[in-house]
Amino acid sequence: MNESTLQTRRTILRMFTPGDLDALAAIFGNANVMKYLGLDCQPIAREETEIAIFSMIQHWNDRNFGRWAVVCKKNKKLIGCAGFRSYENAAELFYILDEPFWGKGLATEIAEKCLRFGFEDRDFKQIIAFTRPANAASRKVMEKIGMSFEGEVMVFGIQAVQYVINREDFA
Ligand SMILES: CC(C)(COP(=O)(O)OP(=O)(O)OC[C@H]1O[C@@H](n2cnc3c(N)ncnc32)[C@H](O)[C@@H]1OP(=O)(O)O)[C@@H](O)C(=O)NCCC(=O)NCCS
Repeated sequence: MNESTLQTRRTILRMFTPGDLDALAAIFGNANVMKYLGLDCQPIAREETEIAIFSMIQHWNDRNFGRWAVVCKKNKKLIGCAGFRSYENAAELFYILDEPFWGKGLATEIAEKCLRFGFEDRDFKQIIAFTRPANAASRKVMEKIGMSFEGEVMVFGIQAVQYVINREDFA
């Protein structure tokens, strides 16, 4: 089994376990969190969240990279998920935080750590990220961590904006 734990100043990024279901289901069940996510921008049911957890664990086992559970150092609670999934042989960066934790620079702190992991601990040549065009906070995070806007694309039938960073451009 592939294991990885990282730390940022305010968070721990650790492997998901089945015991994370209640906490993650509460985050995925929040309509504000899901406003720009998934095929229909709707909250995700507990059963789907359970499948998502197993899928994230499996991705680590298959690819030796994936998404971490984000735990707040201060209160020890699971406050989101972040990391990578493979998309057409590229590593796609992704992050979700629970609503009370927005607007504190946490996603930027976590996403920077993810990039460092991808380029230094793994051999990624390039990291990509997608979001819906209207997701201004997510786009801002991508820009703040040094990703460049590549253009509009269709991803799983969804109109999205694509951002990219290459290993040689990572400071
Ligand atoms: C996107 C998300 C992860 C951002 O997390 P965060 O911790 O608030 O992000 P940060 O604080 O690091 O940075 C957000 C930036 O966006 C800016 N921002 C937030 N809302 C904004 C808006 N509506 N319009 C313009 N800028 C906005 C913030 O001011 C901040 O920029 P600044 O540091 O220059 O002030 C969080 O909002 C979230 O989890 N959303 C739901 C899930 C999601 O959409 N994930 C993205 C999937 S692609």
